[in-house]
Amino acid sequence: MRAYIEMIQRQDQPAMQHMGYGTTEGGGFVLGGQLCRRDAHGCVAFAPASLDRTAASMAHLLKPAGTLDNWKRAANLYARPGEEPMAFVVLTGFAAPLLHFTDTSGLLVHLCGESGTGKSTVMATTAAIWGNPKALVQHAPTSKYGSTHNALMAELGVLHNLPLMFDELPLTRPEGVFRLLHALVSGYERNRMSPSLDLKPGRTWQSVYLSAARCPLRTLAAGFSDGEHAAVFERTIEIALPRIDPRDRRWIAERAAAELALTNYGHAGQVFTQWLVANYDRLPKLIDTKREELMLRVGARRDEWCLFSGFAAVLVAAEMAKAAGLHDIDVEALGQWVIDTLLPAQRQGGGASRREPGGLLGEFLKENMANTVVARQRRAIRPGPDESVRGLPPGGRPYVRYIKNYGEADISERVFRDWCRRKQVDYRQAVADMKRRGQLIREHCRCALARGLACSGMEGQEKVRCLRVCVSASMVGLDDDDGENRNGSSHRRSPARPGW
Ligand SMILES: Nc1ncnc2c1ncn2[C@@H]1O[C@H](COP(=O)(O)OP(=O)(O)OP(=O)(O)O)[C@@H](O)[C@H]1O
Ligand SMILES: [Mg+2]
Repeated sequence: MRAYIEMIQRQDQPAMQHMGYGTTEGGGFVLGGQLCRRDAHGCVAFAPASLDRTAASMAHLLKPAGTLDNWKRAANLYARPGEEPMAFVVLTGFAAPLLHFTDTSGLLVHLCGESGTGKSTVMATTAAIWGNPKALVQHAPTSKYGSTHNALMAELGVLHNLPLMFDELPLTRPEGVFRLLHALVSGYERNRMSPSLDLKPGRTWQSVYLSAARCPLRTLAAGFSDGEHAAVFERTIEIALPRIDPRDRRWIAERAAAELALTNYGHAGQVFTQWLVANYDRLPKLIDTKREELMLRVGARRDEWCLFSGFAAVLVAAEMAKAAGLHDIDVEALGQWVIDTLLPAQRQGGGASRREPGGLLGEFLKENMANTVVARQRRAIRPGPDESVRGLPPGGRPYVRYIKNYGEADISERVFRDWCRRKQVDYRQAVADMKRRGQLIREHCRCALARGLACSGMEGQEKVRCLRVCVSASMVGLDDDDGENRNGSSHRRSPARPGW
């Protein structure tokens, strides 16, 4: 009789319409068209969920296909020692809904690696935890090949605690990159006014997102202010994938297994959801304890809180998914790798490069040390070979002419454009970055880069289009022997002094 009354009462309640997937207030979890929750006896079960129109239109993306075992075969390729970067990436897929139990609004994990390092494949394997990777991995978002910004915001809102991946990020329109990154990590869309002048609150989300490119995120984010950088990079983990060993032929045999995730998806998420709901009350404490343990172990800084929330979510999710039989990755070894390798790289590479004093220009100059002609002053004292011009090392070609006494350099516009293309940085954005840092003196000038060099042949003796920039000696990697001219962002010229 009691069961009958409970049933009538349930039917009498208006069904709550869910606008997104993920955790619900009562400790349940919406996954596509289903709501997973604990019943009065503590048993976890799925029941149909009532979704609003947008959420319902995306539910088919999470419909499972193939088998769980096949997905596990793909994921377990990353369970071998040495595959920790990839293992970490896959486990972010399980960590995504656990971010709800932290105060971090969003986390971005950026994969940077050469072509063929397996970025797209590992993204597909991660996305396939939850649903169809063809839909959950976005290609070149907001470019003419990908979804529009508004469509992306709608998808993020619906997926809510589930992850979304962004492949080929450099194809995204430069002005769209920061907008997207900021939206991902801040967890909300801007409020808007509707045509009828009603305030439409923006959608919200809280998850772990993946992006991939052949270059670091900072090169894509050139041109943003330091404040904007900090907002995004404090919530970003960058993983540099190791170069491919050309002698390694193992991948040929394993290629078919690696691609299994494209057709076997959605099962792991169903199992993980049940574990999440069953352990809902324990998870906040588990994550807090893990974060505290990690932070104390390495003497973490205050501004690393979000980073450690991410690490803790990944490691707790990894343990829970392993207990659920979803992967064979050694979680203890992974935790050690996070502390020994990922964190130092984050602090050093990430931290330093986030606020690289010379920015892109500094990077360009350092890479072209062997192609830099160093002159003491702008004009030669006498016609012909000038002993105050320091020559190029063997094999070096004149791309940069550094005028030491002025703290300036002329750099070949053509070479700089090519360099930007190779780095997948927009040339206009690189120039804007220089302007913002006060490094650009003239955008258009002409200079014979090797003028005065005795034996450089014809090359470099003709005037070519150049950018004139303000440079400190330390930026070009030369000894700043007179101790002056240190400030690369100032236009002050150092006084001429005799001798080098
Ligand atoms: N773990 C793996 N084992 C075996 N083969 C793999 C593995 N990961 C990827 N591959 C194969 O290597 C090839 C390149 O992988 P993928 O396309 O993921 O690289 P990528 O880093 O995205 O390259 P690009 O930057 O060109 O897009 C694919 O054919 C893929 O099937
Ligand atoms: Mg790819």
